[in-house]
Amino acid sequence: MPTIDAVALPDHLMSNQLNGKIAVVIDILRATTTIVEALGNGARCIVPVASVDGARVLSHKRANSILCGERSGIKPDGFTLGNSPLEYDPQTILEKDCVLTTTNGTRAIHMADAADEVLIGSVSNVDALCSCIRDDGRDVVLICSGTDGMVSFEDCLGAGLIIDRLSYAATDNAAMMYHAMEGASIRFGGFRFAVESSFHAKRLIEMGFGKDVEHACQMGISSVVPVFDSVIGEIVTD
Ligand code: MLT
Repeated sequence: MPTIDAVALPDHLMSNQLNGKIAVVIDILRATTTIVEALGNGARCIVPVASVDGARVLSHKRANSILCGERSGIKPDGFTLGNSPLEYDPQTILEKDCVLTTTNGTRAIHMADAADEVLIGSVSNVDALCSCIRDDGRDVVLICSGTDGMVSFEDCLGAGLIIDRLSYAATDNAAMMYHAMEGASIRFGGFRFAVESSFHAKRLIEMGFGKDVEHACQMGISSVVPVFDSVIGEIVTD
């Protein structure tokens, strides 16, 4: 049986931990949910970029691109789209290259590039993602993006959901996330309410992004499994 491992922050990855494995990057609020939504609605690709200035420069050079992302949850000056998955409708993004920079999610994606394959995970694509991982058969490492170097509860809950669905042999880190997800879902009366108890969800709700949190908790609504090709620097649909 393949194994499933997990880290609560990309900075916790040890050298060689990703070798020969599939990495799944998770930032359910909101970067990876947004990436799944954008590709599902027809974006040609997502180009994850670490910095706001880097994204501006790159978008300027790519004729077919739109500039997307957030800092402190808010769309930076001159950007076309923020980081709300609900903004990524087909009219705006069809066939576009979305140059995306977010505070933690896009950084985590780049930190996963030592893996054999880097997939993008969210609650919205959990079923398609797990069936893709199962068909592949390799060991998996889940990488939670966190928030500014701090562990994010909602990412651990998302990881727990994937661990539950896959039923692979779990490391202690992965077992911890699974039990956190199971326990919190019971304690709060459902997965969504557990997510809403997290610091980042509360902050987004206060900022008026409650619908994003709701959307990010919808299980298996997308069949899109985004793959990051670190050589060309693009995320495309599997
Ligand atoms: C991030 O990458 O830090 C997040 O996706 C932040 C957000 O909610 O926009």
